[in-house]
Amino acid sequence: MGEGSVVTWPDAVADPPGMSAPWPLSTSLVLGALPGATPSARLHARAVLTEWELGDLVEAAELIVSELVTNAVRASTGPDGRPRYDGASMPVVVLRLASDRIRLLIEVWDAIPGAPAAAHPGPDEEGGRGLMLVEAMCDRWHWQAVPGWAGKVVWAELHSD
Ligand SMILES: Nc1ncnc2c1ncn2[C@@H]1O[C@H](COP(=O)(O)OP(=O)(O)O)[C@@H](O)[C@H]1O
Ligand SMILES: [Mg+2]
Repeated sequence: MGEGSVVTWPDAVADPPGMSAPWPLSTSLVLGALPGATPSARLHARAVLTEWELGDLVEAAELIVSELVTNAVRASTGPDGRPRYDGASMPVVVLRLASDRIRLLIEVWDAIPGAPAAAHPGPDEEGGRGLMLVEAMCDRWHWQAVPGWAGKVVWAELHSD
């Protein structure tokens, strides 16, 4: 099948290892690493948090999801503006949300190695503020490589009042 004709991913991608597994509430959403992933992930987060009665976290979570998914899509996009295909497989980003009804863990997985690093841009510089914003909106965030996974997970934790 030709490049671009189908979105496929290995089974492991649909169920990334570790991290949120022990949390009592969790969901995951697998998206092709395309610009539409960001609004889709945002909408999903809003719906899930409403269902989990964590409405007070919706706005912060939407912002964080937006920044992290946008970064993951950008990292998965080549210099030609096309997704970095691995053979016939489109790169994916996976959004996982997990909660114990007080804390919320947001995970964004991508299949690309490379470290997210908060930049500290000067006042005249555009861009480079996404992770600073994430840092300001959550209790803690970090990223890690996970054995058995090609890329990494960037995660942020926040809590309901
Ligand atoms: N998922 C990711 N994979 C690889 N690099 C990343 C990822 N997220 C962020 N980065 C790196 O960290 C930098 C800072 O990210 P960010 O603060 O969101 O600023 P911006 O997206 O405007 O560059 C990015 O420019 C990129 O180099
Ligand atoms: Mg960014």
